[in-house]
Amino acid sequence: MQRISVIGSGTMGNGIAHVFAQYGFDVALVDIRETALTQSLETIANNLDRQIKKGIIAIADKENILSRITTHTDVGAGVHAADLVVEAATENEQVKRSLFEQLDKYCPKQTILASNTSSISITKIAAATQRPDRVVGMHFMNPVPLMKLVEVINGYSTSADTTNKVLALSKQLDKVPVKVNDYPGFVANRILMPMINEAIYAIYEGIADVEAVDTVMKLGMAHPMGPLQLADFIGLDVCLSILQVLHNGFGNPKYAPCPLLANMVAAGKLGKKSGQGFYTY
Ligand code: NAI
Repeated sequence: MQRISVIGSGTMGNGIAHVFAQYGFDVALVDIRETALTQSLETIANNLDRQIKKGIIAIADKENILSRITTHTDVGAGVHAADLVVEAATENEQVKRSLFEQLDKYCPKQTILASNTSSISITKIAAATQRPDRVVGMHFMNPVPLMKLVEVINGYSTSADTTNKVLALSKQLDKVPVKVNDYPGFVANRILMPMINEAIYAIYEGIADVEAVDTVMKLGMAHPMGPLQLADFIGLDVCLSILQVLHNGFGNPKYAPCPLLANMVAAGKLGKKSGQGFYTY
């Protein structure tokens, strides 16, 4: 595999494009918003500067890496030659199903279609295509250039060949892939989101303030970041969507999103990306 298309250039898409380009792949980055693409290239350039300062890459690498990334607002133009597509668009089942229908139409027959979804069923997304055996979950963690894990999710119809190719590709990016099966939230978010939701309930019920909750988890449990700060980094809208998927998928009230989270999202307080969440940025 050499030509990778990344769909969606938000928080995750720019990190995924960065890592593929860093490891020598040609990347077509696609977003419906031109401004998101411009912003992404700026973020990638800034993050490459950080990697230079840390001695991870050489100064001369920066231009080479950036030159491997092209940007597109038209999905067809961005994916027609792809060996692999990694979809990292908004966490919404309808958006993803409609995107996969288009990807299936525009991509060569052998192209593997991966989704970076945090929680939406890979099986449902795959059912929007005529190639469910070549649809798989490739769930990177935020921030992508720093985090080692890739959760590789087997949908009901994903073939062993597809899974093996994506496991091998993840290793080429110096990541550690972990194979899991397709149930709501997979492993990472099935465990993480109830903790974040519970932290938000602690605020909602007035048990403690934001800094207190985060300090307890950082110093008491040796977490590198408190759950509320982490929620801000993930995006509160993304956290809400994942909790809704868990709640609907299992029909268990323990996953119901805290009303405070729903209110904050309705008010446009989405965390770091909007400048305001539990903290101000
Ligand atoms: P985001 O909201 O920062 O970015 C989404 C981007 O997708 C936006 O720039 C939007 O314009 C674009 N988009 C929407 N519909 C599109 C379409 N039809 N075609 C092309 N582009 C389209 O979202 P974020 O946080 O980057 O999440 C993306 C995916 O990654 C979601 O599925 C999310 O669950 C998953 N994810 C998010 C993590 C996080 O920490 N934020 C961690 C791991 C996975």
